Amino acid sequence: MTVPVITVDGPSGSGKGTVSRAIARQLGWRMLDSGALYRLTALAAEDAGLDPDTDRQAIAALAARLQVEFLSDENNNEIIELNGRDVTQRVRAESTGDMASRCAVIPEVRASLVDLQHAFRRVPGLVADGRDMGTVIFPDAPLKIFLTASVAERTERRFKQLGELGISANIDRIYSEIAARDERDRTRSESPLVPAADAVELDSTGKPVQQVIAEVMDLVDQHGLKETA
Ligand code: C5P
Repeated sequence: MTVPVITVDGPSGSGKGTVSRAIARQLGWRMLDSGALYRLTALAAEDAGLDPDTDRQAIAALAARLQVEFLSDENNNEIIELNGRDVTQRVRAESTGDMASRCAVIPEVRASLVDLQHAFRRVPGLVADGRDMGTVIFPDAPLKIFLTASVAERTERRFKQLGELGISANIDRIYSEIAARDERDRTRSESPLVPAADAVELDSTGKPVQQVIAEVMDLVDQHGLKETA
C-alpha cells in the first residue's frame, strides 16, 4: 500500500504551516515542513561563510549532509536542531527566509534535499508543506492544496507570528521581503511556485484559520482520506 500524502503548497505567510500542522494532528499523520530544510541549509551555508551566488556546489554538499532534528519541548513548542545545536530562533528569522530562498534557486541544492523529503513519507500518512510538494516531490499525492492570501494579509500574519516568537521586526520591511521572496520563488526556473494542475486552490484572505482548516478537512473527507487515519 502506498502511504497517502496531502500536499499544502503556497507562498510564505499563506497559513500553510498552521493548516498543515492542524490537519496532521487531526489525522494523526506525520508532517514535513520542507521550508525548514531550505532554512537549515541557509543557516549551514551562513555558518560556513558561503555565498549562494558563487558557492553553489559547496552549499549543495552541505544540504546533502544536514543533520536535522525536529523536536518539541514540554509545552509542545517546536525545537529545531542543526548538527546538534538549537537553532529554533534563527530558523524563523526573516533574514534566514531570504537566504533560504536564495539557496532554493540552486538546482543542486534542491536535488540534495529530495531523498530527505521522501524519507518523511511513512505510515499512516504525511502532510507535506512547501512550494513544490504537489508538483515535484510528491506528484502522486491524492490530495493537493494550493493556499494563497493577499500580500498585505500575509505581512500582518508574519509580523504577528514573529512577535509571538519574541523576534522584533519592521512591518514595511516584511512587506517588501515577502513580495521579493514571492517573485523569486515564482520566477525561478527550477521547481517554481505554481499550483499543480490537479491542486485545489484556496484563498485564505479574510478567513479565520479555523475556517480554512475545516475546508481542508472537508476535502480530506471527500477524497476518502479520513478512513486511512
Ligand atoms: O516556507 P518557508 O518560508 O519556511 O520557506 C523558506 C524558503 O524556502 C521559501 O521562500 C522558498 O524559497 C524555499 N522553499 C522552496 N521549496 C519548498 C519550501 C521552501 O523553495 N518546498
